[in-house]
Amino acid sequence: MEIIVDSDIRLETVKEIHADEIFNLTERNREYLKKWLPWVKYTKSRKDTLNFLEESIERMKSKTGLQTTIFYKGKTAGLIGLVEISYLRNQTEIGYWLGEEFTGKGIMTKSCGALTDYTFLNTVLKRINILCDINNEKSRMIPERLGYYNQGILERDGIVNGEFVAHYHFVMWRDKWRKRKN
Ligand SMILES: CC(C)(COP(=O)(O)OP(=O)(O)OC[C@H]1O[C@@H](n2cnc3c(N)ncnc32)[C@H](O)[C@@H]1OP(=O)(O)O)[C@@H](O)C(=O)NCCC(=O)NCCS
Repeated sequence: MEIIVDSDIRLETVKEIHADEIFNLTERNREYLKKWLPWVKYTKSRKDTLNFLEESIERMKSKTGLQTTIFYKGKTAGLIGLVEISYLRNQTEIGYWLGEEFTGKGIMTKSCGALTDYTFLNTVLKRINILCDINNEKSRMIPERLGYYNQGILERDGIVNGEFVAHYHFVMWRDKWRKRKN
């Protein structure tokens, strides 16, 4: 599956052949990413990235997740996906990251908007959550720019580098998204 975001940005569901490029991007951005993302320190080799991609592909088969590689002008720029899908609760959560060299261009705001569109148009899900570390201003700006609703702070909600972190909890609902688009 592919989502064409605009003439420069394309989301493609992850494949095993993406492993080298995604691992190289992680490796180049290890210092930049590790402050916010708990998985970075456990991703030590290409095999770790490959394992993650294989798990993501299994989740896509069982429709419990959807992970895509972001291509910017043909280059691997980062990842965005539905990290957990619950059909019982009719909701999911979007997670994302970019290599630092691809930041500052609006790539993630546009990709997140396109994935929100895709999710509400192509699945039965009615609600999307985004959780941002309260100190991660760049991440918080993405749901804010798209008009997601800030539901407040979830204290001690995640663990990064052994420490609890608090998250802003952003939500978009299918009906509110449609109204914004009309
Ligand atoms: C979170 C993260 C993806 C945000 O990256 P980003 O580049 O700030 O986000 P975008 O791609 O949407 O780009 C927005 C920037 O591009 C600029 N921009 C340029 N054209 C734009 C456009 N058409 N639309 C929106 N923004 C645009 C914006 O002004 C903004 O720059 P600024 O922050 O200097 O004002 C990135 O910081 C990251 O990967 N961080 C590490 C991992 C992480 O924190 N992941 C999230 C965990 S919850």
